[in-house]
Amino acid sequence: DVGGLVDRYGRVATDLRVSLTDRCNLRCTYCMPAEGLPWLPKSEVLTDDEIIRLVGIAVRLLGVTEVRFTGGEPLIRPGLPEIVAAVGALSPRPVLSLTTNGIGLDRLAGPLREAGLDRVNVSLDTLDPTRFTELTRRPRLDAVLAGLAGAVAAGLAPVKINSVLMRGVNDDEAPELLRFALSHGYQLRFIEQMPLDAQHGWDRSTMVTAEEILAALRAEFTLLPDPAERGGAPAETWLVRGWTDTVGRPARVGVIGSVTRPFCGDCDRTRLTADGQVRNCLFATEESDLRAALRGGASDDELADRWRVAMWGKRAGHGIDDPTFLQPARPMSAIGG
Ligand code: GTP
Ligand code: 5AD
Ligand code: SF4
Repeated sequence: DVGGLVDRYGRVATDLRVSLTDRCNLRCTYCMPAEGLPWLPKSEVLTDDEIIRLVGIAVRLLGVTEVRFTGGEPLIRPGLPEIVAAVGALSPRPVLSLTTNGIGLDRLAGPLREAGLDRVNVSLDTLDPTRFTELTRRPRLDAVLAGLAGAVAAGLAPVKINSVLMRGVNDDEAPELLRFALSHGYQLRFIEQMPLDAQHGWDRSTMVTAEEILAALRAEFTLLPDPAERGGAPAETWLVRGWTDTVGRPARVGVIGSVTRPFCGDCDRTRLTADGQVRNCLFATEESDLRAALRGGASDDELADRWRVAMWGKRAGHGIDDPTFLQPARPMSAIGG
């Protein structure tokens, strides 16, 4: 078997998301309980060298061209700059990005940029300090804002912000979040909440939909169709009339409508969890254990083959609307979003 990560529907995965830890220094109410979760034992988490080897196989043998590091919170992994540097040294060099809650980014953005990181996406759901503390159960809004500023200062561009809106919590903040992002040159994307929380508290009937988000934005902004190609990107984007980004191009806003506007038909993703399991979908119910194979002495070609087999079995879509839908056992924080 040779070639890339193709599935039976003809999709090709070229975008790898690597979760570096299932742990986090926030406790967002829509993600995990106040006491945290039963974290993976250290012995089950891939070492830096194991991650570098598996990502190398994805890039050299399997056609992966973009690597995004996620968590949990990836900035709390001590070896992050070394991992980024090693993956950035691969040939062909993949595009390197990071999804983070921003805490510590003020300090780490420079070293990560130097190590070869290209882009960063920062989660920020509210600009109100009291709300932030309630929502994340930690008083760290200032740290996140400092992280965003640090990312720009380090030359990571574009800096994107991810906001999950929740009814009765922060759903009144959409225009304010957009005004904040536009005035700082960050690219904001609103995300529909998905059934991936550890507490299984997601409720379709109360989820804030892409349509509602757009209506709230259109009350205060004029959104114009974005001529740029969407490709496999989860975000649908619009140009915001009258606003430009940091380099003078028209500013954009995005909506990731995973639930009401699924993009599974164009999905180009494959995932590796912190404990070395390949997931062919966020909502996969089965995983493929690369860690056991790797620690059992498998060759690069054997590991690549296992990865191909895992992706071939990818389902057509997430099936959230099917009556038989079952939320995956692993929560978002252990998949990497
Ligand atoms: P960009 O390359 O910057 O567009 O990154 P991204 O939006 O793909 O990644 P990010 O980590 O910022 O994720 C933003 C939101 O999109 C999160 O809620 C993710 O869970 C969600 N997301 C990312 N990939 C997928 C996917 O393959 N399927 C679905 N349904 N949602 C996804
Ligand atoms: N649905 C949608 N997005 C989520 N995120 C975390 N949990 C969910 C969920 N259940 C977001 C985070 C972060 C990104 C990686 O995913 O806020 O921005
Ligand atoms: Fe891809 Fe699965 Fe996300 Fe759909 S839900 S876009 S198939 S990862």
